[in-house]
Amino acid sequence: MKKIAVLTSGGDSPGMNAAIRAVVRCGLDRDMEVFGIKNGFEGLLDGEIEPMNRYSVGDILQRGGTKLRSARSARFMEDKWVDHGAEMLRTFGIEGLVVIGGNGSLKGGLELSKRGIKVMGVPGTIDNDLGYTDYTIGFDTAVNTVLDAITKIRDTSSAHNRTTIIEVMGRDCGDIALFSGLAGGAEYVVVPEKPFNINEIAVKILDGVNKGKLHSIIIKAEGSPMSADEMAKYLGEHTGKDTRVVVLSYLQRGGSPTLMDRNLATLCGAKAVELLAEDSESKAVGIVDNQIVAFDLEDALKQTREFNEEMYHLIDVLSK
Ligand code: F6P
Repeated sequence: MKKIAVLTSGGDSPGMNAAIRAVVRCGLDRDMEVFGIKNGFEGLLDGEIEPMNRYSVGDILQRGGTKLRSARSARFMEDKWVDHGAEMLRTFGIEGLVVIGGNGSLKGGLELSKRGIKVMGVPGTIDNDLGYTDYTIGFDTAVNTVLDAITKIRDTSSAHNRTTIIEVMGRDCGDIALFSGLAGGAEYVVVPEKPFNINEIAVKILDGVNKGKLHSIIIKAEGSPMSADEMAKYLGEHTGKDTRVVVLSYLQRGGSPTLMDRNLATLCGAKAVELLAEDSESKAVGIVDNQIVAFDLEDALKQTREFNEEMYHLIDVLSK
């Protein structure tokens, strides 16, 4: 394979730039021509495709966001546009594509693979919601951002004897809430994977008050059923405690990637190029038990994520 391309798609995540850098430099090292596609699948459809050299990816390893920029493409959901995307790649002579993105983006890649393009999926999303990989690129940075916020919010919550509900991202996956909740010593995490009873949370808050706790921190995943404002209203009324809401929102997507994210991105990017060089069938690259792995793309996307019950249980035990 002589010509390959790389794009980033969907919500950006810290570490995407490290993955782009690895794809470009490892590709050049194997005497390939490497193209960058701007604005994800949208840019592919519009032919925003440019050759990259090793200097195009200089000074980006440490930056959040994505040098190639990203988009959510409504057009790419339609077959006729996927056909057009595959044709566009053929026009440029590109046989292999690295798609860096989340579930929807890797599914877009799968559609291209059905049209004869070799596609390697690299898991770039803060959500950690892909079943085939233990971690996705950007998750570690995002949870560290949340953790920093929890630490700060704790100070002021204690000073004012408040309950604070911190809403975090993750779409339908509770991992950002779960991991940051455990590390941040939250009283309760509310996640889409587990049913919850708002009254139980009220009882736990009051129990904590009786034990002398100065604050209560609830981490609520955005995909959980009740809104943060509804929760705050209920908990305020039923505990008598001043209850505030903090929505961390897009803060979680930015910032310089952590060591974990940079190295995961770099290793996955390098693996994707290695597979393209071998002319491998389309694969999804990830990490399982600390080893970089690659699975058949279609099979990988069918795998569902297992919720970590042990961590969920520990949060309860440790915050009693
Ligand atoms: O998938 C990443 C993510 O940040 C989710 O956590 C969130 O639900 C969504 O993207 C927000 O998407 P948008 O950038 O389109 O508002």
